[in-house]
Amino acid sequence: MLRLTPSDRVFILTGAGVSAESGIPTFRGAGGLWRNYRIEEVASPYAWQRDPRLVWEFYSMRRRVAGEAKPNPAHLALARLEQALGDRFFLCTQNVDNLHEQAGAQRVVHMHGELFKSRCDSCNRPPFADSGTYDPPAALPRCDCGGTIRPHICWFGETPFEMERIYDALEGCTLFMAIGTSGVVEPAASFVAYVRHHARAVYVGPEEPSNRSSFSDAYFGKAGELLPTLFEVDGKPLTVGG
Ligand code: OAD
Repeated sequence: MLRLTPSDRVFILTGAGVSAESGIPTFRGAGGLWRNYRIEEVASPYAWQRDPRLVWEFYSMRRRVAGEAKPNPAHLALARLEQALGDRFFLCTQNVDNLHEQAGAQRVVHMHGELFKSRCDSCNRPPFADSGTYDPPAALPRCDCGGTIRPHICWFGETPFEMERIYDALEGCTLFMAIGTSGVVEPAASFVAYVRHHARAVYVGPEEPSNRSSFSDAYFGKAGELLPTLFEVDGKPLTVGG
C-alpha cells in the first residue's frame, strides 16, 4: 500500500496502459500496429502533408474505438484519489481518449491533445469539440478560412500542450507516479529523471518501462487491478466507489 500524508503532493502521469483494460489498444507491443503502419508514420506533420486522408482514416478509427470505451477501475481509482486530495493532486495524461473525465476526473491535463477535438491547420480558431469521422472517400473537413480541419493531437515533431503548468507541478510534487507508459516517448519519458531527486518515483504496469532505472519503486501488474487498493490517504485506505 502506498501511504500518502497531508504534506504529499502527487503527480500522476498516465499512458496507454491505463486504457488497455477498457479495450483501447496500446501503441507498442502486441497489437501496436495499424494496417502495418507504426504510429509515427500516421501521426506527424509530414504524414498530414503527404496524405491527410490516411491520417483522418486513422483518427476516425480511433474515434470509433474510444467512443465505445468505458472507464475501468484504474480511471475510477484515480478520480477518487483526485477527490480525496484536491489541490494536492495533478493528473497529466498522454492519452487522448476521455476516459479519465468519464470516470469523474475534474482537472485532466492532456499533454498530447484530445481525440474528440479538432482544429484548423491554418488559422487561429481555437480547438473545438468534434466526434466526426472522415473516412475516405468522404471529403476532408474544411474550415471557413479555407484551411483543413485536423485532429487536435500533438503529433511527433510537435510540442506537447501545457508544458509550463506540467513542469511547475513536477517541481512541486513529493510523489511522482507513472502508470501504463513504456517510457520511450519524450518529453514524458524524462519527467521521472526531472523529479527523482526531490520526489518518490513509482511505476505501475505489467512490464518494466524503458526508464525503469529512474524509479525508486515499481508495482508490477495491471493498473485496473492494482490501483483500486493501492492508496492510503491521510491514514485511511482509499475506497473506490465508496
Ligand atoms: P505505449 O503503448 O508505448 O506503452 C503502453 C504501456 O502500457 C506498456 O509499457 C505496457 O506494459 C503497459 N500496459 C499494458 N497493459 C497495461 C495495464 N492493464 N495496466 C497498466 N499498464 C499496462 O504507450 P505510451 O507510453 O502511453 O503519442 O505511449 C506514449 C505516446 O506514444 C502516446 O501518447 C502516443 C504514442 O505515440 C501520441 O499519439 C502523440
